[in-house]
Amino acid sequence: MCGIFGIMYAEDRSDLGTVLTKAAECLTYRGYDSVGAVAVTRQGQADLRKDVGKIEDVAARLKFHELEGNRGIAQLRWATFGVPAQRNAQPHFDTHHRLVGAHNGNVINTVQLIRDLSAKGHIFRGENDGEVVVHALEESYNKHGDLDRAVREARLLLKGDYAFIITALDGDRLFAAKMGSSLYLGVGPDFILVSSDLPSILWLTNRIVTLNDGEYVEFNQEHYEIRSIETGSKIERLPIESKLSPDSASKGDYAFFMQKEIHEQPDRCQALLDFLAASEEVRPFAEELAASKRTYIIGSGSSYNACVIGSYYLNRIGACSTYPVVASAFSEHFGESIRPDDTCVLISQSGETKDLINVLNLLTKRGLANNVLGVVNVLGSTLMMRSRRYLPLLSNLEIAVAATKTFTNQIVLFLALAIEVAKMKGRAGTLIKILQKTPRAIADTIAGMEGAAAELGSRYRDCNDMYTLGYSLTYGSALEAAQKIKEISYAHCEGMYSAEFKHGPLAIITEGYPVFYLSTLEDRQMMLSHINEVTCRQGTALTVSPPSEELEKSSSVFLPLPHADQILVPVLSVVFMQLFAYHLTVEKGFDPDYPRNCSKTITVD
Ligand code: BG6
Repeated sequence: MCGIFGIMYAEDRSDLGTVLTKAAECLTYRGYDSVGAVAVTRQGQADLRKDVGKIEDVAARLKFHELEGNRGIAQLRWATFGVPAQRNAQPHFDTHHRLVGAHNGNVINTVQLIRDLSAKGHIFRGENDGEVVVHALEESYNKHGDLDRAVREARLLLKGDYAFIITALDGDRLFAAKMGSSLYLGVGPDFILVSSDLPSILWLTNRIVTLNDGEYVEFNQEHYEIRSIETGSKIERLPIESKLSPDSASKGDYAFFMQKEIHEQPDRCQALLDFLAASEEVRPFAEELAASKRTYIIGSGSSYNACVIGSYYLNRIGACSTYPVVASAFSEHFGESIRPDDTCVLISQSGETKDLINVLNLLTKRGLANNVLGVVNVLGSTLMMRSRRYLPLLSNLEIAVAATKTFTNQIVLFLALAIEVAKMKGRAGTLIKILQKTPRAIADTIAGMEGAAAELGSRYRDCNDMYTLGYSLTYGSALEAAQKIKEISYAHCEGMYSAEFKHGPLAIITEGYPVFYLSTLEDRQMMLSHINEVTCRQGTALTVSPPSEELEKSSSVFLPLPHADQILVPVLSVVFMQLFAYHLTVEKGFDPDYPRNCSKTITVD
């Protein structure tokens, strides 16, 4: 997945390059194989600079700050079509340098279009699908000299999910289209802009216009017009004031966004609980789950891990038949058996993950679009717009690629829904009071355990192989702990159900091999036998659980959580493991915010 940004002012500006660089920095989490920027003056002079590497390096080496003009485009690339190379970096010119543009997403017929358009005389400089988008626009522009028409005709050539920005050097406006990848419009006092995501907009303006798939926008520095890409008909849509704070896109006093976002979890959890307590949306959402004979909760990556924990909460507390499913596996596994009375809860921080959009498209095709409930962090995202009912995570912007505060708010939201269902059935008991403790419990865990996490991070800095095991409520926590360790420290770590470990994986144990056990007090007897299986073979058992003499005596390392409430242990144990993964990564000398090969939101298959 990549990030695009385009802006237009009235007059040429000597700080345009600085604006483009800052906007690109705010999109780094979307892709950091390569980066480029182009500035165009009112006279149509274009200066395009791009290369492989991170924004801070490329912008300094190619002197982005020198770029001047009244309009500009920047692009961050996460490679899919074409290796990370200067020729495949974006933006791209067309054959005769009359157009310049960039895209985000995935044009799946790239190879065929390069062949077909080359046969018509187009000259390609690389293999990138972003370049194909510019040439598809050029194909029509060459015939009619009308960029508005070219935008509408190009969609007939381009297959896949994408968004793009384009401008004609001899023109005086920008065009941008949303065809399956995220794109927002921002309206400022003396400029208008588009971008893949809000962090690169909010530092300039909080007046946001959401765009839907199948729409495109033509704009200059003071006017914009949204149109249907199919019919060209005008769509009226006014800006809304975004409540998101731009400071989310800055690290503050923290070394990395990830550490900042781990420490923001108590506040963001409180914000979510306050919202849920006051919202009219929770009860009807819970009622649907309670009434549903079968509910699939569907996500990718960390969001899938949250689905696993959510399923335990909903089954055990709400007695709701809910099943966690990996988004990319849903159609092959359940596509034929999905029923009209099934409920599908789609959960996604970005609301743009392609695997989720594929599930949305399958359900829509089956006439089941109305069965979709959404849980999203990014308001205005595709998943939010296409869910019949949704609940927000309210985590604010999450910049680090590895999910932390959005993950904990996902599982807290599922816990709140499970308790809401239990309340409806008259069986909530003291659960509501425990739920209200969650922000404080998270804060206590961070304050009380970050030291131990940092010490372990240092002790295991040379370790590249470990397991994290959970049981019942903490199984999803073990999966997420492993995800964090792999995703940012690059150490191999497998998350597994602790009772399964003896069926094969136990063979991996050698002296000192580290195995983390995440346990509630209620499951400690079961966990004790799983710990003993490893320690009696000289493995190292590191147990994260509420205080327990038995667990402490049996473990090589005991890491006591500050709160013992069973339903909070899945949350608190992950918070500790987030801290461990973060410190392990920093000890290894890696960047926890932008791990190699990863991207915050994958909008390709
Ligand atoms: C991956 C990220 O690309 O997408 C993961 O690296 C994330 O951290 C996963 O959990 C799912 O993202 P989302 O936005 O659908 O929750």
